[in-house]
Amino acid sequence: MSEKIPAEPPVLIPENEIRRRVGELARQVSSDYAAAKELHLIGVLRGCFIFLADLSRLLTVPRQIDFMAIAAYGKNSAPSGAVRLIMDLRTNIAGKHVLIVEDIVDTGNTLEYLMSTLLPRKPATLKTCVLLRKRARLEKDVKIDYLGFDIPDRWVVGYGLDCADGHRALPYIGVVKTD
Ligand code: IMP
Ligand code: MG
Repeated sequence: MSEKIPAEPPVLIPENEIRRRVGELARQVSSDYAAAKELHLIGVLRGCFIFLADLSRLLTVPRQIDFMAIAAYGKNSAPSGAVRLIMDLRTNIAGKHVLIVEDIVDTGNTLEYLMSTLLPRKPATLKTCVLLRKRARLEKDVKIDYLGFDIPDRWVVGYGLDCADGHRALPYIGVVKTD
């Protein structure tokens, strides 16, 4: 599969457009959480790492950062829907204002799993911030409180997102053919 991936996938969202939108999201989140004592950002590894790094540095509210790692069963390009927890949080989120930071919502299975895992831990609030959404593929009714971009039903890479672990460090969001 990886040998079919071009070295420079065609651009879907250029670097400057990502930077602009992440800045907008950060301003919106900062303003919404201005009254909160502290915001707990939860990054979903591994795809979130660049988005979370950029977003967290632009926020003007006090924040803590923790991570979870989730893996899908089945092939990377054909999510089966089933997900499992690989690494849990290190912090107790009870009574905290929690914002899940995800790279992309495809079927919505991962985000739904995260919500159902974290809600019973009784955070004061639990919201979601997602860079990309493939609206056409959504199967689950998951609430995205902060969304970067709606994108077409294509496999995308770059800015943290991968295809068979490749292209994560690409500075833009590119499109990979998967047919
Ligand atoms: P969902 O559970 O179907 O919503 O899938 C979400 C997860 O699948 C994301 O967190 C990504 O890890 C992965 N994923 C879905 N679509 C893409 C894509 O186009 N590129 C890279 N990863 C993707
Ligand atoms: Mg992800």
